[in-house]
Amino acid sequence: NNFSILSTAHAVPDKIVTNDDLAQIMDTSDAWISRRTGIHERRIATHEDTTSLCVEVANKLLSNTNTDPSDIDYIIVGTMSSDYQTPSTAAAVQGAINADNAVAFDINAACSGFVYGMNVLNSLLKTNHHSKGILIGGEVLSKLVDWKDRSTAVLFGDGAGGILATNDSYDGKVLATSLRTYGQLGNSLTAGHFDENNRFNQNGDDKTRFFKMDGHAIFDFATRKVPESISTALNQAHVNASDVKYFVLHQANSRIIQIVARKLKLSLDQFPININHYGNTAAASEPILLDELVKKGKIRKGDIIALSGFGGGLTAGTIILEF
Ligand code: ACO
Repeated sequence: NNFSILSTAHAVPDKIVTNDDLAQIMDTSDAWISRRTGIHERRIATHEDTTSLCVEVANKLLSNTNTDPSDIDYIIVGTMSSDYQTPSTAAAVQGAINADNAVAFDINAACSGFVYGMNVLNSLLKTNHHSKGILIGGEVLSKLVDWKDRSTAVLFGDGAGGILATNDSYDGKVLATSLRTYGQLGNSLTAGHFDENNRFNQNGDDKTRFFKMDGHAIFDFATRKVPESISTALNQAHVNASDVKYFVLHQANSRIIQIVARKLKLSLDQFPININHYGNTAAASEPILLDELVKKGKIRKGDIIALSGFGGGLTAGTIILEF
């Protein structure tokens, strides 16, 4: 189960959009957004797209570790906002960084994309000695936002983060994973619907490509299923919650994180939060936070950490790592 994270990196768009900026274009306020979600500002793509943010992350991972792109065996991108249906964002990254020997594909598990992706990368690395893989969570959710719907527009942001991992080292391992999918609840969060009209079907429908979300249902789901997912993974890993340095949770709402910590009877100090700066960046939220913690020296080799995501699908998942 060797899974050594050699480097972490993130990239976000230059443009910062504050709550006050949003209050200029819709009926909302900084007070409402900060109190209900913990978000103060988010990054919104102007000249960037999902591919360019992910390529920036991949280039940082390679240069941080002096890795030759031809030594990369796998590139996986977790995204629900790929620029194209095809090519995948991962294939675009593979081409852009000249990782000629890498097999590349996307995973769409919405906000659980990074945890699902780490599970897949770990499994692939196990099949092949001395291999290396890049896993990125990257999103430009601003293109799926209905800027006239204040109930969702204030929540989301753009960004990307990732890791370069290998099984060719005894530093670091995956201790346990717990993934669950709840497809019957899928309608409580949808985005990216394609218009079904064609030459033979002009019936249309009222579905939209923009986010539609039952906020209360997702809130309830997250506060019930995330503690369950974390407890299952901790039991499998035979790790006490108090031995986990940080629980790096998907950043969807700081109130959700507070409730998860309370339900697990843990200190909020074990639950770092950066949603104030980025909003909900779906599959990108955990790797952006992970990179910030590593860069600040708060996560070091040997620390036990838990990554836990939840979101569209609906999906939920936790992975416990010795970093
Ligand atoms: N500004 C001001 N008022 C607003 C806004 C806004 N942006 N949005 C809604 N309101 C109003 C509502 O109209 C409502 O008014 P009313 O009482 O007059 O009817 C009031 O505020 C309360 O609205 P609620 O929806 O009850 O607010 P709530 O406290 O539930 O917070 C929120 C809403 C933040 C969306 C919360 O439900 C939540 O975080 N849910 C989870 C969402 C989530 O995590 N989604 C992402 C999943 S991850 C993925 O896969 C992408």
